[in-house]
Amino acid sequence: MGCALIGCGKALPALEVQNDELKALVDTNNEWIVTRTGIESRHIAVEETNLDLAERAAREALGWDEGGWSERRIEPEEIDLLIVCTISGDNLVPSEASSLRMRLGLPNAIAFDLNAACTGFVYGTTVVEALMAASAAGVAGAAGRNPVRRALVVGAERLSRITDWAERSTCVLFGDGAGAGVFEWDEERAGVLGSHLVNEDDPTGALTCALTYDMPVPFSEDGIVPDANAEAAVREKAGNPQQAITMNGQAVFKFAARAMADAVTCVLENAGLSLDDIACIVPHQANERIVKFAAKKLECDMDKFHLCIAHAGNTSAASVPLALADAYAAGRIKRGDKVVLVGFGGGFTSGALVYEA
Ligand code: UT7
Repeated sequence: MGCALIGCGKALPALEVQNDELKALVDTNNEWIVTRTGIESRHIAVEETNLDLAERAAREALGWDEGGWSERRIEPEEIDLLIVCTISGDNLVPSEASSLRMRLGLPNAIAFDLNAACTGFVYGTTVVEALMAASAAGVAGAAGRNPVRRALVVGAERLSRITDWAERSTCVLFGDGAGAGVFEWDEERAGVLGSHLVNEDDPTGALTCALTYDMPVPFSEDGIVPDANAEAAVREKAGNPQQAITMNGQAVFKFAARAMADAVTCVLENAGLSLDDIACIVPHQANERIVKFAAKKLECDMDKFHLCIAHAGNTSAASVPLALADAYAAGRIKRGDKVVLVGFGGGFTSGALVYEA
């Protein structure tokens, strides 16, 4: 028995921007971007919101719309839990998950957002598996909590809104998109075989994005600031910071390559498996070179990794489920295959999960 993946889907915004087009914004070129990252183009949400992308990916995963992979159509009332993994939700309140719950009409779902940066989908799926296992064991149900039999996990990002489009070392990397997976507790299937989550410190702030609240706060160290002066005084004091991703690329690169290899090694060890047992590894798509470094460290053939970074770029929490849906669409994963999902990113977070398809 276990938590089985029974559907997945993806969504990319309509606008696709080629590397050379970014020359209009920053001093860069196609050759640098392709050789340093493997990225050729990315999709940018102009009209689409984070919620629009999340909805499209979810509908494919639920078998409501064509384009995804699903074992059957899931009815709205069947979903008990909805997690949206994101760092770029449309609102602080309601959560992206609450908005998506209403958009999709999932009457029985509890819904919340999860921020584990680019590792979000691995974290989210691990939470789902744990709640399903507890429910199946009667722990959650017996305590009068919400039993979870089926869950929808979505990774959705509109990173273009938190990208500094004047900073060439970051803006060429990111894109918008969404991916989704539907999981079901099945007495007959193994499903998730193990997962391994890690948090470590990022003491130098190698990867950050400040949350900038725009409302003036009429207080200072001396107490209340008169209304008339509040906005100007507070903005001046705060220096009107911008909400954009900043990154020390090389520091993050080193962390990423090490963390990715370690996470795969640990999850396989915990599950009593070796790389030879694995049909496909779906990694976070931050940089093709990071995957190559990790593959070398793991002594694993690059063919085992599924990459779709070339035309999606780095979509943070959307990256793993988007690549997973892409792998299913490409026919790379068949029933019974063992698959590893692995992520790494801001926090620093990292983690891997292995499941039997
Ligand atoms: O998803 C979250 C996790 N994120 C990651 O995993 C990203 C990790 N980091 C990386 O993928 C890489 O570090 C980058 C792709 C961000 C950068 O690649 P790099 O090989 O580490 O390049 P670098 O930062 O060492 O820069 C090399 C040169 C510099 O010029 P100088 O100082 O050698 O003259 C940069 O100014 O490349 C320059 N450069 C660029 N040139 C053209 C930086 N960005 C660009 C650009 N176009 N877009």
